[in-house]
Amino acid sequence: MILKNLERKIKNKTARIGIIGIGYVGLPLAISFSNKNFKNIIGIEKNKEIIKKLIKNQSHISHISSEKIKKLNNNNFKITDNFNVTKILDVIIICLPTPLKKNSSPDMSFIKECMKDLIKFLKPNQLIILESTVYPGATDDLIVNKLKKKYTIGKNFFIAYSPEREDPGNQKFSSKNVTKLVSGKTKICLRVAKTLYSSVFNKVWALSNIKSCEMTKLYENIYRSINIGMANEMKLICNKLGVDIYEIIEAAKTKPFGFNAFYPGPGLGGHCIPIDPLFITWWAKKNKINAEFISLSHKINKKMPSYVFNKFLKIKEKYKIKNIFIFGVAYKKNIDDIRESPAISLIEMLIKKKIKFRYHDPYVKRIKVKSIIVNSSKISYLKKIKNCLAIIITDHDKINYKQIETDCDYIIDTRGRYKKDNKKIFSA
Ligand SMILES: NC(=O)c1ccc[n+]([C@@H]2O[C@H](COP(=O)([O-])OP(=O)(O)OC[C@H]3O[C@@H](n4cnc5c(N)ncnc54)[C@H](O)[C@@H]3O)[C@@H](O)[C@H]2O)c1
Repeated sequence: MILKNLERKIKNKTARIGIIGIGYVGLPLAISFSNKNFKNIIGIEKNKEIIKKLIKNQSHISHISSEKIKKLNNNNFKITDNFNVTKILDVIIICLPTPLKKNSSPDMSFIKECMKDLIKFLKPNQLIILESTVYPGATDDLIVNKLKKKYTIGKNFFIAYSPEREDPGNQKFSSKNVTKLVSGKTKICLRVAKTLYSSVFNKVWALSNIKSCEMTKLYENIYRSINIGMANEMKLICNKLGVDIYEIIEAAKTKPFGFNAFYPGPGLGGHCIPIDPLFITWWAKKNKINAEFISLSHKINKKMPSYVFNKFLKIKEKYKIKNIFIFGVAYKKNIDDIRESPAISLIEMLIKKKIKFRYHDPYVKRIKVKSIIVNSSKISYLKKIKNCLAIIITDHDKINYKQIETDCDYIIDTRGRYKKDNKKIFSA
């Protein structure tokens, strides 16, 4: 009866859905539910600035338009910082940050804090889903173990894990064509979570248990980290060899089987690929397994900003460069997120050596690095300066690459934007 009630509410879209953490993952998820005509969506967010903006129909995430926020609000979306509302919810989805601690172990404090705030308001028959990326076993540690004394999981309370596969800024993929992974603490928990996600996602893939689902998310990101690590190592070798890594990748791509293209770059950024592999190296170490392969790719990827910086120093010295212009400071193209961005690592190195620079990023108007605030310069500034070296770190589509080529004396290209048949362009 209890279960039938919850499933009925989900199916007829009257279920009250609370999303905790309205950031890069939580906001698009709220929009997806709203687009499928769920009319009772509540965001629970600690950051008052975000709340204020959303109430005013403004987006705090550059690749999500304010138009979409307006539509969300018109569909009865509510936002609050008061956990009190959780007592009226049917479904609670946690989309909180899971960064690393200074010692590279997983920092689960956001989820722990949230559970403390939440627990007093929970009531029987709710479904709680964790969407954050976590180490294998975290849903049990942080949620199941906290609730199993009070409730019979699968009977009068439901717990699920479903990792987010959001690729911010990538317009090609959405809930329409990305399969949603789902797992539940019991078969019944899985059934109800599947019912929920099937009403939003076109394809849902159920795993037999939560740990496998947590691990799948990590596996996907580690796969990328390792392949990017290999591409980065090959780039260093190709640069020494005097051949163009991008030409080689394009040629290898013509093989119709057994090859997936991954591209080198100035280093990894964001909250997935640089961080998630360390959840596993941490877990493996704790369990006396040596995750050598994962650690090695992490090490290679991590040294890329220094490789770019050293190459930059040599070029600066050789050509007596006076002006340095960095293009793109977000961690990847077409978004405004600078978390863990390799551009920021490079800028820290410039600041440490007291080397002056400008930057241009159409998505990031201002950065603060080592307490120094720098504003994005207009690309037209290039016309005013002579003896300029451009460093392409993030290849946003909006940047005018032709203009950079015309106005800059030298270019360090870390993304393969330019053909290397030009004496003034260096791959790094
Ligand atoms: N960003 C991505 O592309 C992406 C993709 C897949 C998975 N993930 C994972 O999803 C999770 C969330 O990532 P994100 O990028 O959305 O993070 P985010 O920082 O963009 O958003 C988290 C939000 O939670 C809010 N918050 C923090 N503590 C809170 C609390 N106690 N109560 C309510 N709100 C609180 C923050 O103010 C913030 O707005 C992480 O585990 C991340 O690894 C992220």
